[in-house]
Amino acid sequence: MKGAILVVDDERDMLLLLERIITEDTAHKVETTADPLDALEKVKTGVYDMVISDLKMPKMDGIRLLESIKALDPTLSVVVMTAFGTIETAVEATRKGACDYITKPFRRERILVTIENVMSFQSVTRENRALREALGKQNGFASLLGATPVMRDIFSRIRQVAPTQGTVLITGPSGTGKELVAKALHAYSRQKDSRFITINCTAIPENVLESELFGHVKGAFTGAWKDKRGLVEEAHGGTLFLDEIGDLSPILQTKLLRLLQEGEYRPVGGNATRKADIRFIAATNRVLKQEIARGRFREDLYYRLNVINFQLPSLAERRGDIPLLSYHFLKKYTGINGKQIGEICPLAMQRLMTLDYPGNVRELENIIERGVIFCRAESLMIKDLFLDRERSEAPGAFPPTLNQLSFKDARDQMISIFHRQYIDRLLRDNDGNVSRAAQKAGIQRQYLHRLMKESGIVTDDYKDLPDDETVRADRD
Ligand SMILES: Nc1ncnc2c1ncn2[C@@H]1O[C@H](COP(=O)(O)OP(=O)(O)OP(=O)(O)O)[C@@H](O)[C@H]1O
Ligand SMILES: [Mg+2]
Repeated sequence: MKGAILVVDDERDMLLLLERIITEDTAHKVETTADPLDALEKVKTGVYDMVISDLKMPKMDGIRLLESIKALDPTLSVVVMTAFGTIETAVEATRKGACDYITKPFRRERILVTIENVMSFQSVTRENRALREALGKQNGFASLLGATPVMRDIFSRIRQVAPTQGTVLITGPSGTGKELVAKALHAYSRQKDSRFITINCTAIPENVLESELFGHVKGAFTGAWKDKRGLVEEAHGGTLFLDEIGDLSPILQTKLLRLLQEGEYRPVGGNATRKADIRFIAATNRVLKQEIARGRFREDLYYRLNVINFQLPSLAERRGDIPLLSYHFLKKYTGINGKQIGEICPLAMQRLMTLDYPGNVRELENIIERGVIFCRAESLMIKDLFLDRERSEAPGAFPPTLNQLSFKDARDQMISIFHRQYIDRLLRDNDGNVSRAAQKAGIQRQYLHRLMKESGIVTDDYKDLPDDETVRADRD
């Protein structure tokens, strides 16, 4: 993507240098100004994707400029430059919404890597915001989000299938949105004004489940002191969602088959059959074909259920949706927690894009929720994501923008990502104690300090973090 960068610095030499680097080594357009007030006027035109600003300027200090820029356009990425030795101000700047900082003097590669990171994620996040707005209008499936081709295909099939009475089987790994799809199917059906009833086939013991589903007559068993309507009756004219259908016991599988085949059921202890008028939707994260092969699931029931199948992709199969989903959850949890966090910093987003997600969307949602709770700035940072120590990146995962860079730049970028991650964990394990951390890592303390500076890491951020155990307990 080609973008526009505004550079603000009172030193003319610095402006010239940055202008030269950006025009020579990137495809972006650059404008410069030595006057912060002029910078604000320029920002108002809304043409920039990124601002690089000095922190110490005579007319207005960089922090105030940053605040004013963020007030004008909270989505604009601002990187601040700071002289060696004034790292505290830089940290304050990131708290105020700067997405990164560079210490002067800097190496050409360092600034180029920063620019590419910020620009690529700026474009992804802007695109996604626009997409989300468009999407909200276009598919109307409230909270079911996605912009990747697989998800668009699912949306269009939901629209097609919802108004029919066909039985639907939704399959896919845990946390991929099966329940959301079931609800969307109901919301777009002709019976949308009738009830949507969910029954979880795992959670309830077999005998209770039967009477829950079909109801019972008075005296059917001890404690049945009056007739009780079952969920099938409750859902009459509406939708019955059979969640975790793969866990249904053999006896109930048989009874359900009869219900699906003949549209009839019999309450527990009753003689007369009743007619059911419902739309069935079933879901499972098991692979039913395997369950059939193992003799645990009736094949005839499978074919009855599987009239229309939705197979939901794992999050790893639609990584392109991660920014969109992340922003959606950011908004959700800042609302719930009464916080003002407007953006996810590019490096944190980069990390989110490459993680392995065994728990799929639900796991991403948990990570963002936790991040929002711990975040003390206006932008969600890597350290807020507070990823488990053992947490791995997806095998072979690789920042998606990396192959647009030359080998050397890509290597530098990987190394700087490695530095940040390594030091982040090291300091976390050592509660921000640099001497101890250096000793553990087998490097000189001064060297660790230098790496920390380059990575924009400060020990303060590690001193009062709760440990992983607390966080895990909070999550569930
Ligand atoms: N496409 C999506 N857009 C927005 N949120 C999603 C999406 N998919 C899943 N989620 C969110 O992820 C969480 C898990 O979704 P859901 O309960 O529908 O998954 P599931 O497939 O039924 O999982 P399980 O098999 O574990 O029951 C929910 O909080 C849901 O809101
Ligand atoms: Mg579910």
